[in-house]
Amino acid sequence: MDLVPLGPGFGVEVRGVGLIDVASSADAYAAVRAAFEEHSVLLFRNQSVTDDIQTAFSRAFGPLELTKVSSVGSGTFYARLTNIGPDGALVPPTHRQALTARANQLWHTDSSFKQTPALASVLSARIVPGHGGETQFTSTRQAWDRLPPALQERLRDAVATHSYANSRSQIDPRMVTPEEHATLPPVRWRMSWRNPVNGRRALYIASHAYAIDGMGDNEAKALLARLTEEATQPQHTYIHRWLPGDVVMWDNRATMHRGRPWPDAETRSMVRTTISATDADGLGEVRPPAPLPRAA
Ligand code: OGA
Ligand code: MN
Repeated sequence: MDLVPLGPGFGVEVRGVGLIDVASSADAYAAVRAAFEEHSVLLFRNQSVTDDIQTAFSRAFGPLELTKVSSVGSGTFYARLTNIGPDGALVPPTHRQALTARANQLWHTDSSFKQTPALASVLSARIVPGHGGETQFTSTRQAWDRLPPALQERLRDAVATHSYANSRSQIDPRMVTPEEHATLPPVRWRMSWRNPVNGRRALYIASHAYAIDGMGDNEAKALLARLTEEATQPQHTYIHRWLPGDVVMWDNRATMHRGRPWPDAETRSMVRTTISATDADGLGEVRPPAPLPRAA
């Protein structure tokens, strides 16, 4: 297996090992898992991906998420990010699937709004547009390391609240369905995530985060915006330009990402599988104690 650097200090292309190897060989899995813990973003090129191969690869890393209500692929292992509608035609820009693509263009980490957040996401390119449609990544591990020590001290155990409705309402408040409101209540996580394998800490924030315990709403929003802006300065990011057959896997504990726009008239179709975090991935430390009851 060879690792070829991709981004500024994080991200590698994996050569000599493919998705099927990882699914079928413990040694290949161990090597790729070690690369994942170290480099946060892995690219596999020229893969003959089917849904089954993507699942076999992904489930080597842990339990798979089921796609949430009101998404294409709901109740299955697959989140289908596509601008092709159920009738086979391109959807208009106001369609829910187009709005979802716009929401993905906010800097985020996947599934921080879920009761169990994600360890990793695996995204395969099925149809790639001729222009645009890249995915941009940043290392929140490096962003953490750049923070002044006093701010690290303040944020290490600070607790933020995340909700799906917060990120979607930035695109269109009507985007959140009653089923989503009912099944996706806000969740709280510490603002840093320590990797148990190498001890490296990462800033844990996302477009889903909006409040911080013990801080006024405006102050919290301003701090989250400032942290996101610092973490995502262009020189610290890697922009992935997709080719058909590309599969990219990222560590949701140690990165943020966003989609980039592409022309409405061009087709883009991607399939994501998502691996849930477990205590072995450091989740136990990220879960804060229950909030104190408000004084009467
Ligand atoms: C995702 C995501 C962005 C893109 O799959 O989680 O945010 O570029 N995708 O498709
Ligand atoms: Mn995403």
